[in-house]
Amino acid sequence: AVVPDLAGRHVVVSAGGTREPLDPVRFLGNRSSGKQGYALARTAAARGARVTLVEANTGLPDPAGVDIVRVGTAVQLREAVLKAAADADAVVMAAAVADFRPAEYAAGKIKKKDGEEPAPIVLVRNPDILAEIGAERPRPGQVIVGFAAETDDVLANGRAKLRRKGCDLLVVNEVGERKTFGADENEAVILGADGGETPVPHGPKEALADTIWDLVVPSLGSD
Ligand code: PMT
Repeated sequence: AVVPDLAGRHVVVSAGGTREPLDPVRFLGNRSSGKQGYALARTAAARGARVTLVEANTGLPDPAGVDIVRVGTAVQLREAVLKAAADADAVVMAAAVADFRPAEYAAGKIKKKDGEEPAPIVLVRNPDILAEIGAERPRPGQVIVGFAAETDDVLANGRAKLRRKGCDLLVVNEVGERKTFGADENEAVILGADGGETPVPHGPKEALADTIWDLVVPSLGSD
C-alpha cells in the first residue's frame, strides 16, 4: 500500500518541453516527452498530494486527480509555475525549458527567396524559472527541486547547477538523442544542497519519481 505522506500538501510539477515560435509554422524546441514530469505528478497524487501539473507540449493523457495547466513557451511556463508556487509546499522543475527564444516573431511564414542567403536567427535569453524560485522562495519552508539534463561531465555540471540555481535537490540525468528523452526508464543521481548524493539505478521513471518524493518529504515544513 502507498503511504499517504504527501496528504495535505500542494506540489507543483512542470513537465514537457517549451516551444519558442519563430513564425506561425516553426518553433525551436527540445526532445522532452513529459514522461518524467508526469511520473512525478502521478506518484505525488498517489501519495495524497494536491498536484498542479504545468505541462508544455506533451500530448500525454491527463493523469487522474491532478490539476493541469497547459503552456507553450518558457515565458508562459514561468507565469504558470510562479502562480501555482505561491502556496506550494514543493516545486519540481522536470520540464525542459528553452534557455533562449527567437528575438523576433514573424507574423507571416518566413519564405525562402531566390538567390538570397537565409537570415540568421537572433536569440535572446529566456527567464531562468528555477533560479528565480530558488532565490526568491515564494513560500517559507518550501522545497525546490530541479533537474539537470547533461550530455558531458554529468556530475560536475550537476553540482555547479545546484549551487547556481539555489535549489534544495537537483536530479542529474544524462540525456542524448535516444537517451532518457521519451523513454519509460531513467537513471539519475540526486544531489542535495547539504552535500547528499543518492544514486538511483536504471528503472521506471515512476521509481525515480518516488525516490525524489522520499527525499522531499522529510524536508517539508510543518504548517
Ligand atoms: O520528458 P522526458 O522525455 O521524460 O525526459 C525527461 C527530462 C530529461 C526532460 C527530465 O528528466 C529533465 O532532465 N528535465 C530538465 C531538463 C532541463 O531543462 O535541464 P537543464 O539542465 O537545461 O535545466 C536545469 C533546470 O533548470 C531544470 O530543472 C529546468 O527545468 C530549469 N530551467 C532551465 C532553463 C530555464 N530557462 N528555466 C528553468 O527553470
